[in-house]
Amino acid sequence: MKEKLINIIKEAGNILKEGYYSNKDVNFKAKKDLVTKYDVGIENFLKEKFLNQFKDFNVIAEESDNSNIDFNNSIIVDPIDGTTNFVNQVPHTCISVGVYKNKKPFIGVVYNPILDELYTAQVGQGAYLNGKKIEVSKQNIFQKALISTGFPYSSGTCENDLNDVVQKIKYILPRCQDIRRLGSAALDLCYVAKGTYEGYYEMNLKAWDVSAGIIILNEAGGKVTSLSNNEYKLFEDKYIVASNNIIHNDLIENLNHKVIY
Ligand code: IPD
Ligand code: CA
Ligand code: CA
Repeated sequence: MKEKLINIIKEAGNILKEGYYSNKDVNFKAKKDLVTKYDVGIENFLKEKFLNQFKDFNVIAEESDNSNIDFNNSIIVDPIDGTTNFVNQVPHTCISVGVYKNKKPFIGVVYNPILDELYTAQVGQGAYLNGKKIEVSKQNIFQKALISTGFPYSSGTCENDLNDVVQKIKYILPRCQDIRRLGSAALDLCYVAKGTYEGYYEMNLKAWDVSAGIIILNEAGGKVTSLSNNEYKLFEDKYIVASNNIIHNDLIENLNHKVIY
């Protein structure tokens, strides 16, 4: 299944690439949440191929109405993760596809056709970038850890979420090496998987943002949990916390620290 999946995603990558270098109309799903005809076009392309080739699976995808689709044997699709980057020609954007069997992780594929980075993993078989095995960083000192995060679209409308983002940065920033915010949750998880970042956290993500990245990171030796350090549950947890495993407890502890202004 993995090879077929990769071939289809690579084909879809050509649509992303074409759109990236074109002028495009942008529509707003919410105050900060963008969508283009390429998000919809890539999603339709992938859905048609997946449903045709993988008859035992349903497809849960960002731009679709998923209300009547049960999460079970599911291919979870984000047609463009990092749409704001895609629109502004920041080359940190990708297609993300996570495959689950009986709700259990099976295959993850994240493809950035602009930088030609293909991240793949199948449970029990390790994680790869363009066919080369990747592993998490061995850094064990939190002060030397490069941490990535993202800002939820709700920061434009929900003061509690905005305050939470600021509070966590205020506590984490002086205690780690530095913080990055590159704008693609799927790639953020892959960057922890390949050892570029030691850790990553974000709130309010959807299953399609992380369905593939968490499989890739786990296979690279990393760890993914909720804010309370329990196993991360797709579709349920507000926060995702991911790391090279070694600094995980420090990251969790620092994220849970309450700053009093
Ligand atoms: C977004 C990206 C971004 C994250 C947002 C996501 P989209 O996905 O992953 O990094 O901060 O919360 O919604 O909208 O570009 O598919
Ligand atoms: Ca996304
Ligand atoms: Ca998207």
